[in-house]
Amino acid sequence: MERLKLFEIDLIYFLLVIFTGFKVVSPCQLNVESPLPIFTKQFLTKKIVFKPHGASLQLQPGESITAYCNIGIMYKYNQASSNRYDYNFNGNGIRNQNLEVNTVEVICEANNQIGIKGKLSSSSNQFTIYCASPSTYDLYESKKALTNCENYANYAIGVPLQTAGIENDIKAGICYDLDRFELKFVNFVAYLNSDVAVFDNNKQTSELSIDLDKKISSLTNYFAFMSDSTFNESRDSFRIGNKLFNAFEFDLASLFQDEPLNTELKNFAYIFNIMWWRQLRQQNWRYFLDALRARTQASKYLVYMGTYGNATIPAAQGNCSSFQSEVVSVRKDKKAVSAPAYIWMYLKSLTHADEQEIVVIAHNSPYVMEPEHSEFCSVDLCDEVEWLKSSAFGNLRRLPTLGYTFCCRPEEVAKVIDYFPLPVDEIEISSLTKNNSSAEKV
Ligand SMILES: *[C@@H]1O[C@H](CO)[C@@H](O)[C@H](O)[C@H]1NC(C)=O
Ligand SMILES: *[C@@H]1O[C@H](CO)[C@@H](O)[C@H](O)[C@H]1NC(C)=O
Ligand SMILES: *[C@@H]1O[C@H](CO)[C@@H](O)[C@H](O)[C@H]1NC(C)=O
Repeated sequence: MERLKLFEIDLIYFLLVIFTGFKVVSPCQLNVESPLPIFTKQFLTKKIVFKPHGASLQLQPGESITAYCNIGIMYKYNQASSNRYDYNFNGNGIRNQNLEVNTVEVICEANNQIGIKGKLSSSSNQFTIYCASPSTYDLYESKKALTNCENYANYAIGVPLQTAGIENDIKAGICYDLDRFELKFVNFVAYLNSDVAVFDNNKQTSELSIDLDKKISSLTNYFAFMSDSTFNESRDSFRIGNKLFNAFEFDLASLFQDEPLNTELKNFAYIFNIMWWRQLRQQNWRYFLDALRARTQASKYLVYMGTYGNATIPAAQGNCSSFQSEVVSVRKDKKAVSAPAYIWMYLKSLTHADEQEIVVIAHNSPYVMEPEHSEFCSVDLCDEVEWLKSSAFGNLRRLPTLGYTFCCRPEEVAKVIDYFPLPVDEIEISSLTKNNSSAEKV
């Protein structure tokens, strides 16, 4: 028991050091540089996985830590005082070398020199490691399907840490329609302290119900995605002579508009890029994300996010016989990107099981005359959620010029969006028990 307690204290102390950058004088200093490796460290009953916050980690003699990069681990150290491994100098006595493995165990040896188990000893108490590739994460096919995604392709973005004896670190699940070549939804966990995960040795803790089955190369090998610059050029030339389109701003940008995922998943932006109405993205969706960010400091959410429908530009006046509205889109050669009518985020609390589940839905179009919620649900629930109601988002969300945004129960949304991530039987049951509330007046 005494032994166990000591290990728990070790763990807490270690977490304190990585969270606060709390300085200690240690015999060995492991420096880290961007692109950062992922580290794992074993305590008696728990293993933690983390990305370091500071620029260095302190190790005591005899202590070791495991580092992981997806392509290869690079290292450098000042070996002016060393006569071993003396090739590839850059002139300052510093050399950059690729260890050509994905996982290494870094140890602080008894003589206060940092070494890499089975690979080298550095004869220095300072040592720097970083990853050879800019992204730690790869794209995988998942054998397990996401909820209500059985008929589409299931992908996962993550790091295979199972070889290191712990669960894989999965950042996001993707439901993708390969026939139409479009994203149905993404699935991830929103939690501000997600840089550190503590795993119990015998407990499954991953909240995402997907796996890293088969690594696949970029989807850009198979499909042509529109690039940022092509979108900009085509958009800007379409503006000329199109007054209604020219009256507003649209951008090609990722569904992930917040850190850390925006940066961590940047390599896969082509999957997540959508045509955003800029006002929504920079105003009401921003305020919503700010409120969510504050909330996720203490609370963890399982999140599903996607789009729905087509934003349209009303037909120009003057020709009553052609009353066809036009889809808001940007085309170039055979590629086309069109603006979705709505962007939605479905939030399920993982911290409080009894918390009401909601779907936050935003109008991604400046062309809707009187935006409201009735296409999806009878009652707008946002004001029933205290952390949304009391935020800037709560005050501004109904202003059409900032992107009208509202909240619905998932069961109601699932009746409109057929690929909504709710099990089909749940939708049937809830429609029987649904009370007949009359439409709420906004
Ligand atoms: C495209 O345009 C947006 C502004 O509309 C700008 O922020 C972005 O940097 C541009 N991208 C490229 C590649 O030019
Ligand atoms: C949006 O447009 C696509 C392609 O034209 C069409 O297949 C789809 O049904 C439309 N979505 C809605 C909700 O009308
Ligand atoms: C009105 O629309 C019809 C059908 O699209 C077209 O044939 C006609 O030329 C249009 N008239 C004007 C004045 O633009």
